Amino acid sequence: MSILVTGGAGFIGSHTIVELQQAGYDVIALDNLSNSSETALKRVETITNKPVKFYKADILDKDALNNIFDNEKIECVIHFAGLKAVGESVKKPLLYYENNISGTINLLNTMKNHNVKNIIFSSSATVYGNPSVVPITEDCKKGECTNPYGWTKSMLEQILTDTQHADNEWNVILLRYFNPIGAHPSGLIGEDPSGIPNNLMPYITQVAVGKRDELGIFGNDYDTPDGTGVRDYIHVVDLAKGHVKALKKINEKAGLCIYNLGTGKGYSVLDVVHNFEKANNIKIPYSIKPRREGDIAACYASPKKAKLELDWQANFDLVDMCRDSWNWQSKNPNGYKE
Ligand code: NAD
Ligand code: UFG
Repeated sequence: MSILVTGGAGFIGSHTIVELQQAGYDVIALDNLSNSSETALKRVETITNKPVKFYKADILDKDALNNIFDNEKIECVIHFAGLKAVGESVKKPLLYYENNISGTINLLNTMKNHNVKNIIFSSSATVYGNPSVVPITEDCKKGECTNPYGWTKSMLEQILTDTQHADNEWNVILLRYFNPIGAHPSGLIGEDPSGIPNNLMPYITQVAVGKRDELGIFGNDYDTPDGTGVRDYIHVVDLAKGHVKALKKINEKAGLCIYNLGTGKGYSVLDVVHNFEKANNIKIPYSIKPRREGDIAACYASPKKAKLELDWQANFDLVDMCRDSWNWQSKNPNGYKE
């Protein structure tokens, strides 16, 4: 029996396949490579010394999905495949709703038709909207999302919840990630954004490697200790290990479960810059820019439920994340491109 990892060539998917293979699971990866490279999977094979069976396929393609489920004995799906660029989702909402929502409905229908009813879904802290209290617990109400990408996560949580309520043979785990950064300590796999990075850490590493002149910090007048935005940054390897723990929960016939995956600690943009400088002995020039539309002041998790019920907690700290992000970027200045 195998675990199907959709979006397996992507940033979080590739790190999760490493942890799954190292924990002894058989893995099948599916990806359309729209935002990734097959090289990531070759690098995974180098790390784990095990082959990764790969299907280049699109979750919008029902026949391709059917074919995979006909050919393989799949016990659980870990579903990462999706488009994730917040700004692009504002400009191209239909692309996002079609890819993320229609794609997931195709996947769920194919799973149902093949009697595979176990799924772990990549959700996001974005579903909480602007939280009224931090740290955020899982029973905080979901909020207003500020962009179509966020709404796809919120809607897909509802679709998965309704699916499980209608048929309690389904086991559905919704994992709400906070801000994944870092890279595998080997430096072989990491985040490889196309174009100008939207997210903080890839922007910082591109400044460090000389591709960008300086970091723009989006606002220093928030109601936070130093005025810059506060987030819960989590090492991608810790996040990946959270999926292995979630698989154990699926095997206990969990029904519907929701977990935050974060460290529980909030760091400001300036904290990240200073920790990066200290960890890597590199100066990051920056200037203060206006606030970015849709950003909130502070967002960090209560990770207690995941500790209690999954026996999972984050182990890497911010210095580790800064070191490993730079290790990846400096060894691969052009990402997976040769
Ligand atoms: P990523 O873009 O690196 O990985 C997603 C993968 O899905 C890519 O390899 C892409 O090629 C693939 N994909 C997209 N559409 C597809 C389709 N129609 N068919 C097949 N493959 C398709 O992103 P990531 O950072 O690894 O994120 C993984 C998941 O986690 C996504 O669902 C994302 O929304 C979610 N998430 C990410 C973050 C973050 O900050 N990185 C935070 C919260 C949630
Ligand atoms: N920031 C800057 N300059 C930059 C980039 C970011 O100052 O060039 C700041 C932002 O204003 C924010 C913080 O750095 O205060 C983090 O921003 P990111 O873009 O890295 O992350 P976000 O918290 O905005 O969003 C991320 C993902 C979303 C996901 C959300 C919650 O991009 O997809 O975390 O999980 F929904």
